[in-house]
Amino acid sequence: MRIGILGAGQLAQLLAHSAYTLGFETLCYAESSQQPATRNSPLFIGELKDNKRLQEFLSKVDLITIENENIEVETLQFLESHLPLLPNSKAIGITQDRLLEKQFFKSLNIPTTEFIAIDSLTALDSASKQLPFPALLKTRRFGYDGKGQVKLSTAHQTSSAWKTINEMPAILENFIAFDTEVSIIGARNAAKQISCYPLITNHHEQGVLRISTLSTTPHSLQQQAENHLSTVLKELDYIGVLAIEFFVKNNQLYANEMAPRVHNSGHLTLEAFSCSQFELHLRALANLPLPTLHLKQPTAMINLISKLPDNKLFLKEPNLHFYDYGKLARPYRKLGHITITNNNVQALNEKAIQIHQSVTDLK
Ligand SMILES: Nc1ncnc2c1ncn2[C@@H]1O[C@H](COP(=O)(O)OP(=O)(O)OP(=O)(O)O)[C@@H](O)[C@H]1O
Ligand SMILES: [Mg+2]
Repeated sequence: MRIGILGAGQLAQLLAHSAYTLGFETLCYAESSQQPATRNSPLFIGELKDNKRLQEFLSKVDLITIENENIEVETLQFLESHLPLLPNSKAIGITQDRLLEKQFFKSLNIPTTEFIAIDSLTALDSASKQLPFPALLKTRRFGYDGKGQVKLSTAHQTSSAWKTINEMPAILENFIAFDTEVSIIGARNAAKQISCYPLITNHHEQGVLRISTLSTTPHSLQQQAENHLSTVLKELDYIGVLAIEFFVKNNQLYANEMAPRVHNSGHLTLEAFSCSQFELHLRALANLPLPTLHLKQPTAMINLISKLPDNKLFLKEPNLHFYDYGKLARPYRKLGHITITNNNVQALNEKAIQIHQSVTDLK
């Protein structure tokens, strides 16, 4: 089995690493050769708009998956007309557009933040009279790590906010003073089997994920999240791993967004569970049985952003793993992550915060 992956960043790198443990091969389609995945996988260089190159790529793989949802739907449909694209183009198309995603959550009765579609300053002025402040203006497409977002505190800020997002199609949504943020990650295979992990708690700073830990939220939230995940997976006839991010307020979940792929908050599954999110995704793609996901050991994950610290400072710790994606350092860029394990959850979470503080560049 050779899996074609569109993209060759760190998610492709970690998928390729897991593919090796299943006896699968990978081939990553990328527009340039300077890519993290080259450490673990051969690359196939081509432009995403080049159908001839895509056709050649198609002839070398058995199925196609993605590591990034921001690929034009026409390209996805072209690939899908030749080989299985997993997850399918409809699922990817919805998740790459915040407006479609929010409308989709609403149509399935999955609670989400209030939102209004914005395509002009006039629309933004009128929406800002309908939603309370503070509110967030977010571009419909291409947002990540808090990019393409502006917080509005008063109606006077509409004009500058509209300029800040370069007058791109957007949504205005209400700001939620959440108690915490969580994500659910799970997968579905062609045999319609679904398997998902316990909720993961996520701590962001300046819109960027910094620390993920296993949640200590009540069982009722796990049930709610699993129900929402299963509803989405079935509705989209989805195959592969899907992640949904939620805000938690007063023991209620509000869907923020979803990712049709392995997710940064799921990196702790590498050490925490009997099967990682990367292996789970590959198993789902190959329609292999999805295993029950046993917790092996409590694990926390800390992102390494902007500047990679020296691994020698950390590796004296025996229960620590240091993942270096091999990327050039740039402000706010995710360059690697650390996972640590400890059966004492309180000590583990304290250690995660300590490591985060020692590596952080973002204040
Ligand atoms: N409506 C909101 N109310 C409160 N905080 C919010 C809201 N929307 C976003 N945030 C904060 O900003 C973070 C990033 O927002 P969001 O997940 O929508 O954007 P993103 O740039 O796509 O992020 P990601 O890196 O997860 O793809 C959230 O995890 C949350 O901490
Ligand atoms: Mg997010």
